[in-house]
Amino acid sequence: MSLADKLAAAQIKDLIAYQSARRIGGIGNNYLNANESPYPAYEMPEQETWQRYPDFLPNDLATKYGLYAGLQSDYVLTTRGADEGIDLLIRAFCEPKQDSIVICQPTYAMYDFIAEAHQVEIQSAPLAAPEFDLDPKAFNSLAKTPKLVFLCHPNNPTGNLLNKSAVLALAEQYKEEAFVIVDEAYIEFTPGDSFATEIANTPNLVVLRTMSKAFSLAAIRIGFVLANPDVIALLAKLIAPYPIPDPSARIALNALTDMGVSYMDAQRERIFVTKMHVEKKLNELACVKKVYPSATNFLLVHFEDSQHTFDYLAEHGIILRDQNHAPGLENHLRITIGDDADMEQLLDCLALMR
Ligand SMILES: Cc1ncc(COP(=O)(O)O)c(C=O)c1O
Repeated sequence: MSLADKLAAAQIKDLIAYQSARRIGGIGNNYLNANESPYPAYEMPEQETWQRYPDFLPNDLATKYGLYAGLQSDYVLTTRGADEGIDLLIRAFCEPKQDSIVICQPTYAMYDFIAEAHQVEIQSAPLAAPEFDLDPKAFNSLAKTPKLVFLCHPNNPTGNLLNKSAVLALAEQYKEEAFVIVDEAYIEFTPGDSFATEIANTPNLVVLRTMSKAFSLAAIRIGFVLANPDVIALLAKLIAPYPIPDPSARIALNALTDMGVSYMDAQRERIFVTKMHVEKKLNELACVKKVYPSATNFLLVHFEDSQHTFDYLAEHGIILRDQNHAPGLENHLRITIGDDADMEQLLDCLALMR
């Protein structure tokens, strides 16, 4: 029995996937099986025919993304953003009021939120201050064995990478009992540090990806789950019948061409130049206590008084992400690296703050 079958939630094990018209397939010349309209939509150019449902899961996109990530297409599931991947994993493996996930705070809040929405217990193995490293000891004191462990690499909101051997050791520790999920939403900002190529040798390792960050495509809602084919097959049972809109798949395919990837690489370098400048300038300000090193397109900053800073900037139209509520992040704000003009406005405003 595969690990995915062994760990699948009882209610999912025998679930038969909804057989949508596209999923059943069939090659013909007159498709009368999906109650679509035969006519183009209002004011659509001739060649844009949106009246048909999209592919169940766009194969060309899985193949293209697989090539980009160094995996075969059967290791790739396209989702509506990485957030849908989190939701599918929790639903596929966790039984409400029975199973648990582990989160390593401070981290991305959606793991916690989605687990709670599905009545799945949340256990905590906090990252170790001051560097926010993975803390293997924290896992030894968990009350029960989890089904899923969510790691974020590089971590949001702290910006650091997790120790690679500690992550792999955790996967080894849970190899029969839980999936270790590495959320790599920001991995394009630190190429070379991905866990994707470890998946084939580590059956309980799952990687989440997105095109929302470095690829500048948050609006098209494209993410990916990278995992062994048994996991992908289980998640594909649960995903909505026609999850990926055609326009999104097309835009994503274009961004994954060689030219598209080179363009993304160039934007990343631009963001890094801006980030270095902002980091230096922030460190010169009296209101700033610490700027954390970041492998991403954002900076975590410890301010003297984050509430005052947040409010003052908001009054001037600059909106940051307040991290004050997160464990260990009192008086911290997260700053996304925008373009040079955005960042000059921020720095000018902070320099004038009293
Ligand atoms: C760590 C992390 N994972 C996942 C996501 C969600 O990405 P998507 O837009 O692909 O749903 C985000 C978005 O901010 C994120 O920061």
